[in-house]
Amino acid sequence: MRITTVGCGYLGAVYAASMASIGHEVLGLDVDQAKIDDLNRGVAPFHEPGFEKVLTEALDSGRLRFSTDYADAADYTAHVLCVGTPQLIDAAGADLSYVHAAVDSLIPHLSDEAVVLGRSTVPVGTAESLRDRLRAAGKDTPLAWNPEFLREGFAVEDTLRPDRIVYGLPEEPDEAARTREILDEMYAPMLAADTPLVVGNYATAELVKVSANSFLATKISFINAVAEICEATGADVSVIAEAIGLDDRIGPKFLRAGIGFGGGCLPKDIRAFMARAGELGVTEALGFLREVDNVNNRRRDHVVNTARQALGGTFTGKRVAVLGAAFKPDSDDTRQSPALYIASKISGRGADVVVTDPAANARVHAERPNLAVAEDAYAAAAGADIVLLLTEWREFKELDPVRLREVVGTPTMIDGRNVLDPAAWRAAGWTYRSMGRP
Ligand code: UGA
Repeated sequence: MRITTVGCGYLGAVYAASMASIGHEVLGLDVDQAKIDDLNRGVAPFHEPGFEKVLTEALDSGRLRFSTDYADAADYTAHVLCVGTPQLIDAAGADLSYVHAAVDSLIPHLSDEAVVLGRSTVPVGTAESLRDRLRAAGKDTPLAWNPEFLREGFAVEDTLRPDRIVYGLPEEPDEAARTREILDEMYAPMLAADTPLVVGNYATAELVKVSANSFLATKISFINAVAEICEATGADVSVIAEAIGLDDRIGPKFLRAGIGFGGGCLPKDIRAFMARAGELGVTEALGFLREVDNVNNRRRDHVVNTARQALGGTFTGKRVAVLGAAFKPDSDDTRQSPALYIASKISGRGADVVVTDPAANARVHAERPNLAVAEDAYAAAAGADIVLLLTEWREFKELDPVRLREVVGTPTMIDGRNVLDPAAWRAAGWTYRSMGRP
């Protein structure tokens, strides 16, 4: 299959390389020349384990290239929309301007055989409106929705070996048959490997994605709400998570209490879902997601307050070491990062904050000039009055409490991700606090 990915961010670039790796001819399109140059040289514009290897191999195979010229799309059949849908600057809804621009840029170059496939996370109703947009431009190109479920840090694996594949097909039978035929060919190896395939209409496919992310966000906020109760009672949230997770109706995943969820997906997706419910006149249906968001935000402020108390009630003149800036390990993505929120808030309250992150240091340095950046945890913690572990990188989970104690000013550790062994840290002389654990 000849495939273009429109948008070469996280989703599009990984998708392009992965689809080329299974034998398709792929063209990655993006408006950002620097990104396209990097990708054509086999350089990943973001940190993603395993991506550069797949990218280089796909480029070497001759089946993958990247371009900023949409006219190059004319020779391709399946056009996959992979652009971002960030939160609007001044409202809770999703900004669809990149999706609209992607379709508009494709329109002049769509061949008679072409199909358009949407992969971006969008509010329900978007696929229908894009189909109308194509028709209004005089194109009868069939369109289907095919949401992605990749996690940063596992993006290649999730693209090549997904849990499930979802098709949202058009109502018109010929268009449904055509898009399905293209999708089946694109995913032939995954389907041959018995990956479950779920088929519905546009609205269903769009809602599968936002429902999945909302459920995951709810699970995290649920356990974080329980952590709040644990803090008031002396119970241990990690033991509770283990015990309820053993019920296979609940399951153990996404029950890690801590400073909550961030990133470019969960926070904006629950807000866009609520905004869309409001537009549809069913605001109350998703009222609980407001609380999911509130719990999540409260955990961040809880860490700030806990740190201030530990420092005797003020941040002024204190040195605070922050371990982690990315929203999760194995990523350099700092969008909506709880770690960076906490670091910035503490800095704004008068502390000297030194951040270190195995992958996001350059980004922090460029984007947050008020935060100092250190090479590693030992450099960040040197002379610090308190240390906060906010992203659970392996490097931090494996820190030696005895060695870190030798460089720190005051041995106080707040473990925002509940990943350190309390007994080991306390035995090494640390005042150790975590989230919802005694
Ligand atoms: C999320 C979904 O997990 C993917 O399935 C989806 O495809 C993707 O969004 C997307 O919409 O594109 P991602 O944003 O990469 O993927 O991150 P997650 O692994 O879901 O983690 C999100 C946040 O939740 C992180 O900040 C993480 O630290 C936090 N988290 C996760 C917890 O606080 N506790 C947990 O138990 C699990």
